Amino acid sequence: MSEPEPGQGGRGAVREVCDLPGPRGVPLIGNGLQLLPMRRRHLRIEAWCERYGPVFQFRAAGRRWVALADQGEINELLRDRPDRFRRLREMERAFEEVGFSGVFSVEGEAWKRQRSLVVRALNANNLHRRFDVIQTATRRLQRRLREQARSGESFAVTRLLTSFSVDVASALAFGHDLNTLERGEVQLQAHIERVSSMLSFRSLFPFAYWRLFELPADRAYRRSVVALRAAIADFIEQARAQMRQRPQLSEAPENLLQAMLAAQQQDNAFTDAEIVGNVYTLLLAGEDTTAHTLAWTIWFLAQRPEVHVGLAQEAEAVLGQAPFPADHEAVSRLVYCEAVLRESMRLKPVATLDPYEPVSDTTLCGTRIPAGTRIVLLKRHVSRSAGGPEFDPDRWLEPDGGGAQDLGAGQDRPAPKDQRAAPDPKSFLNFGAGPRFCPGRNLAFLEAKCALSMIARDFQIELDDSAGPVEESFGFTMVPKGLRVRLTERSTVPGACTARQRDPALLDSTG
Ligand code: HEM
Repeated sequence: MSEPEPGQGGRGAVREVCDLPGPRGVPLIGNGLQLLPMRRRHLRIEAWCERYGPVFQFRAAGRRWVALADQGEINELLRDRPDRFRRLREMERAFEEVGFSGVFSVEGEAWKRQRSLVVRALNANNLHRRFDVIQTATRRLQRRLREQARSGESFAVTRLLTSFSVDVASALAFGHDLNTLERGEVQLQAHIERVSSMLSFRSLFPFAYWRLFELPADRAYRRSVVALRAAIADFIEQARAQMRQRPQLSEAPENLLQAMLAAQQQDNAFTDAEIVGNVYTLLLAGEDTTAHTLAWTIWFLAQRPEVHVGLAQEAEAVLGQAPFPADHEAVSRLVYCEAVLRESMRLKPVATLDPYEPVSDTTLCGTRIPAGTRIVLLKRHVSRSAGGPEFDPDRWLEPDGGGAQDLGAGQDRPAPKDQRAAPDPKSFLNFGAGPRFCPGRNLAFLEAKCALSMIARDFQIELDDSAGPVEESFGFTMVPKGLRVRLTERSTVPGACTARQRDPALLDSTG
């Protein structure tokens, strides 16, 4: 197969996919081998993008793929759902096969019905009403991190952050305080992790071999699915019992699970299977995404003391000595903290590749895309192009000292080091865009800001790379593989800060 050159033209006004540039493959398997190991596939595809430009094609998993890294076209695709584009059919099937279909994996009418309930359950009012859930989890995280700091040992911080986010998601969405942070119940997390990475693998595998025979990984997966279904059945049973005891909950549900059960009682709006699927979906969607975003941010902080000190000073000013912000209004004053999270997401977006397919034959980027073609969105290419490779949270601060993007008004805000244009909001695709954008976005920022401000104020962070450098590993999300840190408790940093005042020397004097 000859290798088309970058930018090589097509046949007239509308190109065919095979006219697009792309890497040379081999018969039958196309470019499949070049994408191995799977956990590093995003790096290979991003490297192809550097060579072939923002629209190119390759073949893998028995399919033709079109890779798209153009900001405008990506936004258009995400916006034109559910009518023109959808998530992969294989993904929908993989979730269905194990009974975990929920708002993330379904399409059409079922999606519309489920989506409106999930959006309502995660809206700002409900989150503010149950802010105590995040405060409790933050205090527990603080205790666990102190224990780690006092041990003097390095440890895998991502696991604790995952406990934090799973505790928050389960308490808010199902009213169930798992408290994996203190109970150290890693079993449930291990099941969620196994199931999510297998779902992601099966969503991309060209044929369903597991229906003919099972490998050890498939058997372990089946056991984890059974264990998770049992845990979810337990959540549902407890919620039903609560609603029998307090019938008023049917009129005024306090969490998503109760809302789904109430809708089921009233007009059979949800089947039992849909309720199970959505409980799993929120566990999956709320866990790794937020935890891995926090983990990458900690990785950046360990290498950027001046950013750490800026965060610590802001946290001092907003939190005082408390383990967490007093209320959600105080969270909105953690403006630099939000800028740091945004910058970390810009360079290390946990959902860095996103696969879609057209619902029927369509045209995109002047290219005819037949139904069945897979389209992969290269989101990091877009966000990195919008600001370059340097980690610089100040780019998200407004010149007048106002907050990043859509934050409410606040006081004592840090100002950026210099005047510059903030990145185009359309380049920030970490939470998707269009009608299916992430409904957990507010929750993610709320919990991540609480955790990060506490961590930055209370601990000095040192990377332990004795076992090798941290690597990007992409499964369901992109995780910092091998991230180990050693924490030291910090004493306080007096005074509020501006970006100009941030001084790494402060870290040494207070550490
Ligand atoms: C930093 C944290 C998070 C990131 C980066 C993230 C990212 C994403 C992305 C990229 C999507 C796909 C959006 C699209 O198709 O346009 C998504 C969907 C979704 N997210 Fe999040 N998410 C995060 C946290 C959360 C949390 C905390 C929850 C709830 C507990 C949540 C619940 C969902 C749900 C239910 C969907 C499916 C929406 C639909 O298909 O209609 N996410 N998220």
